[in-house]
Parts: sequence; structure tokens; C-alpha cells
Amino acid sequence: HSSLEETLLGSIRTIPDYPKPGVQFRDITTLLGNARAFRRAVDELVHPYAGTKVEQVAGIEARGFILGGAVAHQLSAGFVPIRKKGKLPHHTVRIAYSLEYGIDEMEMHEDAVKPGQTVILVDDLLATGGTAEAAIKLLRQMGAEVVAACFVIDLPDLGGRAKLEGMDVTVRTLVSYEGD
Ligand code: PRP
Ligand code: MG
Repeated sequence: HSSLEETLLGSIRTIPDYPKPGVQFRDITTLLGNARAFRRAVDELVHPYAGTKVEQVAGIEARGFILGGAVAHQLSAGFVPIRKKGKLPHHTVRIAYSLEYGIDEMEMHEDAVKPGQTVILVDDLLATGGTAEAAIKLLRQMGAEVVAACFVIDLPDLGGRAKLEGMDVTVRTLVSYEGD
């Protein structure tokens, strides 16, 4: 492992059998609470886009808000919240999606991105890719150019990367847990 991977893997906590038996929950609260690890994760997410034209960073509620907000600040980009249904006050576009443990709907304000704007999507973890797929569909529906989807953690056995690459999206992840 590189020192980056060691720092990140060493700061992510694994909770066995949460939220249900057999699931290893990768808990990033310990990464967020570790100043060095948090900074390194954000720096690494930002690095490929420093000096490029990223106009907006879209973050997925809830954990994607924390990382996405930091990334947007560092890129001097705007931030677009993609939220669970019923939380946004203005006119929205909405999409149903399936996630690791059920089904839900997410929304984005219809005027949150302008046609042609360059956007990177940020979330903490890529599992089945259902959450990110839905977010990308919303962004594209409003005319955004999705430059990449960026995550701290990849669970490659769940197929998220393949799903997103099949949509012609560049996928970036910092650490990966195989066998999850
Ligand atoms: C988790 C995680 C990702 C998503 C990944 O969020 O933060 O957003 O699941 O799963 P997928 O690739 O299979 O779609 P969760 O829905 O648990 O909600 P939270 O971020 O609000 O805790
Ligand atoms: Mg999430």
C-alpha cells in the first residue's frame, strides 16, 4: 500500500454485522475526525481537477455533503446538494433509485446546474453504484457535463464502477475493499 492508502485505510473503521448480519460497514466518521486523514482524502479527491474547469461539485446526502463541500471549497467551485426526497424547498427534479439496503428517491433543484456546466460528483463510498447512477441521471437531465464521479471508498465486488463506466463516466476512488 502507498502511504496515502495506509493513512486512509488506517483511519476508516470497520463495524462488523452493521446494519445487518454479514455486512462489514466501512465507517468514515473516524477518517473525518482524523485531521490528517481528512485533509489527505480531500486533497486526493481534488488533485486531478486542480487548475481544470470544474464549475460545480455535486454531493449526495448525507455523507457526500461533507466531502463534497470541502472539495468544492478547494476547487473554488459551487456546491450542488442532491438530497433525499422532500428536503429541498424549490422546484426539483426527482428520481427513484435502489441502494444497498432498499429503495429511495433523491432530488435536485431544477436550477442547481446550468446546461453545459462541468460538474464532478462526490460521495464517500461506491457500492452497487445505484445512488451515483441516479445522481448522474439527474445532473445530465439538467444538461450538466459530468466530468467524473469521485469516492473515497470502492467496494469493487458490488459492481458500481462497471455500472458508472457503462454510463461513460470517469470513476475515481482512493481505497478499495475487496471481498465485501
Ligand atoms: C451509502 C453511501 C453511498 C451509497 C452507496 O449511503 O454513503 O451514498 O450508500 O451505495 P450504492 O453504491 O450501492 O448506491 P446511504 O444511502 O447509506 O446514506 P447516507 O450517506 O445518508 O448515510
Ligand atoms: Mg450516502
